[in-house]
Amino acid sequence: MRILTGITPSGTLHLGNYFGAMRPAIELQAGGDAFYFIADYHSMISITDPEARRRYTLGIALDWLACGLDPAKAVFWRQSDIPEVCELMWLLGTLTPMGLLERAHSYKDKLAKGIAPNFGLFAYPALMAADILLFDTNIVPVGKDQKQHLEMTRDIAIKFNHTYGETFVVPEERIAEEVAVIPGLDGQKMSKSYGNTIELFGDEKALRKKIMGIVMDSRTPAEPKPDADKNLAIQLLKHVAPKDVAADYENRLRAGGLGYGDLKKALFEHYWNYFSAARTRRAELAADLGYVEKVLSDGAHRARATADQVLVRARKACGLR
Ligand code: ADP
Ligand code: TRP
Repeated sequence: MRILTGITPSGTLHLGNYFGAMRPAIELQAGGDAFYFIADYHSMISITDPEARRRYTLGIALDWLACGLDPAKAVFWRQSDIPEVCELMWLLGTLTPMGLLERAHSYKDKLAKGIAPNFGLFAYPALMAADILLFDTNIVPVGKDQKQHLEMTRDIAIKFNHTYGETFVVPEERIAEEVAVIPGLDGQKMSKSYGNTIELFGDEKALRKKIMGIVMDSRTPAEPKPDADKNLAIQLLKHVAPKDVAADYENRLRAGGLGYGDLKKALFEHYWNYFSAARTRRAELAADLGYVEKVLSDGAHRARATADQVLVRARKACGLR
């Protein structure tokens, strides 16, 4: 069973990325056939500063390795080290209906926000389909917001197989329901593009300030809060604290007597401890960039073995030499 997922280097990774995508992916690497890549071509849709792209790409490589991606178990590479994915996007693009792309939430949302769309944004689901199909992927672990892109990938694969004969493995999504959407500091989905994130790594003081700055309602500490389960800090605490500890805070908030300041303080402490081992490992990796580069180039080499085969298969199927 080949498992594959990608993460776009368009900012600093946050708790949503970690619980929605990274942790499930890292758990799956034990199966031994995991393919994970840094989607630097995708980052071009939102970032046009080359230096920022390099910085985010390296940052994400460090994040994944620090959080437990094991290069002995998983193949880990930079998307642009295998540019053939762009050729496959073309083969797929010629079978991708405009209507399908026009229905993409990612495209419609950006339009609604007044962002001037370009070809890259519009074609994004076709590049994502190429990412997945180029590696004979069976399972794609992603957050809920990527569900539609996976459906599109399946549609495109089925259409190609129908048009040119059996060529691609039709993949399936894997969405961890309980962590389907991690809320951000403002209660909306946590996302780099909403400026409401809690980063995995960063300056302690700044992160403490962010968490202590979460806006809550004006009820006094003593008041019982029957809606304690809806409280943002409780929801986040459930991910970073042991189950019984989070349940205890929830009960105390519900009963009355727990102030929001104390709750936020607890959230910060648990969050900070949760990533403490990874933080140390990340600092070690950052001091050994030669190793990180070697992991990525070895990964590209290993991933290419499959990519080459699949691309030849696809080219043959559609009558290219
Ligand atoms: P962002 O919304 O911050 O730009 P990405 O779109 O780069 O994040 O998402 C990278 C991965 O993390 C995807 O698999 C996505 O589904 C997952 N993800 C992002 N935000 C969340 C969230 N708030 N909750 C759960 N998963 C998320
Ligand atoms: N589009 C995904 C995101 O923004 C990242 C991504 C690119 C991806 N290619 C992929 C995820 C292929 C899974 C499979 O989160």
